[in-house]
Amino acid sequence: MTSLPARRLPLKTLAAAAVAALVGAFAAPPIALAQETLKIGVILPMTGQSASTGKQIDAAIKLWMAQTGGKAGGRKVEVIVKDDAGVADTTRRLAQELVVNDKVVALAGFGLTPLALATAPIATQSKTPMVVMAAATSAITEASPFIVRSSFTLPQAAVAMGEWAPKNGIKKVVTLVADYGPGNDAEKWFADRMLLNGGQVIDKLRTPLRSPDFAPVLQKVRDAKPDALFVFLPSGQGAQFMKQFGERGLDKAGIRLIATGDVTDDDQLNDMGDVALGVVNSHHYSAAHPSAMNKKFVADFQAMNKFRPNFMAVGGYDGMRVIFKGLEGSKGAGGEALLAAMKGQVFESPRGPVLIDAQTRDIVQDIYIRKVERRDGQLWNVEFATIPQLKDPGKSK
Ligand code: DHB
Repeated sequence: MTSLPARRLPLKTLAAAAVAALVGAFAAPPIALAQETLKIGVILPMTGQSASTGKQIDAAIKLWMAQTGGKAGGRKVEVIVKDDAGVADTTRRLAQELVVNDKVVALAGFGLTPLALATAPIATQSKTPMVVMAAATSAITEASPFIVRSSFTLPQAAVAMGEWAPKNGIKKVVTLVADYGPGNDAEKWFADRMLLNGGQVIDKLRTPLRSPDFAPVLQKVRDAKPDALFVFLPSGQGAQFMKQFGERGLDKAGIRLIATGDVTDDDQLNDMGDVALGVVNSHHYSAAHPSAMNKKFVADFQAMNKFRPNFMAVGGYDGMRVIFKGLEGSKGAGGEALLAAMKGQVFESPRGPVLIDAQTRDIVQDIYIRKVERRDGQLWNVEFATIPQLKDPGKSK
């Protein structure tokens, strides 16, 4: 159309061409635009209480981009990172802007459950695949058919501890969870599985998601004298909790601490000190996972950062893999074609073998029972038992 010299065209044709060009600007990209850069919109809490989640995932995405040269199936990919500071209204607004203004092919990130839930309707309405790299309440994947998860679910981690504890002499337990979605899941699935194995939860305690104070609940735990305290707290709260657990002398009072791996988070573990030693916990990723792939992942990550990768980093790294392979499969198309190419992916992650379940769009993975040990002067979650290829128990009701 534009190759003909304009002055030779009659006025009517020129007007029609101008209208066509205008319409073209708003319509679906024509073939001529097929090699444009593909954009991924990542929304993370880079500031505020959950900033460590943002820092870890952002670092993992940068590593992925460096390793792949930022190319998916021959197409150039650009990542746009936005900070929602952990505020759901901000997440939703940023997602809207990324879809409408930046025309991203996928949304990703989502550091906390409420942030993922606030964005789900945007994914559905705009048919934009949304990769949840961090948030872990079971029900999140049911909030939109466009959600795919690369993190984990609390029921996966909690049933593993509910199974292990009563089989290892821990019969009476008090639970302590953050009072929101993933905490509810951890509390329920741990207690149910304890009961099934002859154990008992004698009290259920909760602390608020924002600025928790653990002193009053720890006093209650002391008075209840359980065999163990089972804890779930979101990433970033483990160190403060562990400090107060030690200060109140609960470790010395013979109350064992068991937890999901969010509490013995690799981001903070090494600074927790002796109080963390011996804590048995369950999770999908340890920086000490002894596979060749993980050793390379940790080495490459630490060559770019001053901190070790935690489970958030691996959720971000694998989420990028799911998007990139998806874009290869869809030949750069977004929407339903990209979603279809994300479903059913099977691959080796630094955490171990994983599958994106095509039915639930949730991740199926090995869950490990680990114990905090000191090796070469550093604290690590050392894996000693595996529950292989666990589907989210929250979906099998
Ligand atoms: C969630 C957040 C976390 O930091 C975590 O460790 C687990 C779950 C969440 O909000 O879903």
